[in-house]
Formats: sequence, structure tokens, C-alpha cells
Amino acid sequence: MRIVFDIGGSVLVPDKPDIGFIKAIAYELTKISEDHEIAVVVGGGRVSREYIQAAKTFTPNETFKDYIGIHITRANAMLLIAALGEKAYPFVVQDFRKAWEVIQVKKVPIMGGTHPGHTTDAVAALLAEYLQADLLVVVTNVDGVYDSDPRKNPNAKKLDRITVDQLVEIAMQAESKAGGSSVVDALAAKFIQRGKIKTYIVGKRDALHLFEVVKGKHGGTVVEPKE
Ligand code: UTP
Repeated sequence: MRIVFDIGGSVLVPDKPDIGFIKAIAYELTKISEDHEIAVVVGGGRVSREYIQAAKTFTPNETFKDYIGIHITRANAMLLIAALGEKAYPFVVQDFRKAWEVIQVKKVPIMGGTHPGHTTDAVAALLAEYLQADLLVVVTNVDGVYDSDPRKNPNAKKLDRITVDQLVEIAMQAESKAGGSSVVDALAAKFIQRGKIKTYIVGKRDALHLFEVVKGKHGGTVVEPKE
């Protein structure tokens, strides 16, 4: 299989880099790469939010702030490159075609952000579409997709299996609320829909067993593409 992993910055670098988690995930990714072609996209997490917040003091320029966020995602990508060692392409990949090239030479391309105006969820979904991946695995700070925000509603129910249309609806609803954030951002959900990409959305605990996750063994949410 060809698999793209989208690893949220808040999972990899919650307050500071989670070294235990980075080690564990690097081990799992290396194991998976023995049987599959893989590519990884990592997010910025809290550090990028803090830098963007600080920059607001000095500039109203949103695109400029997005560039700051992109730099932080790339710093996180470098950490994962270091953890993967020989198996990883040694530079942060900045372009989807380069990611394809890297896969051809049997290395793992690791990306952060690419262009202003979206998040790394959207990058991962587009990369999966471009590479014609069989599977996109989103690792995030909730353990799947819920019918409402589990941080606000204690009765929220996790959905084991949803259609991509449901994912788009849930993501759009969350983003339309002030301060709302979705498990996957709305643009990424749209790309997953357009690219007809089978997607698993899992939490940090499942991510420690990514080797099992790619076989479909996880407690997260399966997003079924439309035929
Ligand atoms: P993230 O993808 O980390 O956003 O990018 P996030 O929503 O905070 O996700 P988590 O918490 O890591 O899961 C951080 C910021 O970097 C900029 C955006 O400003 C984004 O909010 N960015 C990132 C871009 O402008 N373009 C990209 O391709 C990626």
C-alpha cells in the first residue's frame, strides 16, 4: 500500500517535543516502511500558535503569520527526520512532486506546511491525492470523530465509521462556530472527499501502534470514500 500519515503538531509537540512519542512513532513508521510506501506530514502544534499569536502584536498580515506557522511545522518535521534516521530523506520535503521522487528512491519523505492559507491537514490530504495513496492516517489529539465536541459535551459519541460526506459536514459545522476547531479542518475534509481517499482518524494512544492501525486495527474512525 501507499500510505500518507498526517501527524498533528499538538500530538508530536504538545508543550515541548514529546520525545517518548517521537521515538515510538519513528519505530512504527520504520517498521511500516518495510512493507509499504509511506510519506509523512507533521503539524505545528502549540508552538506555531504561540508564534502566530506573538506576531499579531507586530503585524496584521495573515499570510506573513502563516509563513511563521510553516517554519514551525518544518522544525517539527526535522525532529521526526532525526528520529527516523537513515530511513528518512534528510531534508524537509516542500513539494508534492519531490515527495514522489523520494518514494521512488525508497526513502520516507517528511513534510511540514507548504503554502499560506491552510493547515497541514490540507497538505496531507492533497499529498495523499497527488500520490494516489491507498490510505491516509490522521493522528490527532482526540481519538476519533465524535458527533459533537467531546471537550464540551460529555455525552458526545465517537463514530466508528462515517462517510466522507459526513466528515465534510462535521468539519464545516465545527469551523462555522467562533473558536471552533474540527478534528480535521474543513478544507482537508473537502480534499479527502475529492480525492476519494480512504482515511483513518486516530488518537495518540492508537498512534503508538501505527503498525496495527494500518491493518485496520484501531479504536478511531474510518472514513469511507464515495465510489
Ligand atoms: P498546523 O497544520 O499545525 O495547524 O499549522 P493547526 O490547526 O494548529 O494543527 P495542529 O494543532 O498542529 O494539529 C500551523 C499553522 O501554520 C500555517 C497556518 O497558519 C497554520 O495555522 N500553515 C501550515 C500554513 O499557512 N500552510 C501550511 O501548509 C501549513
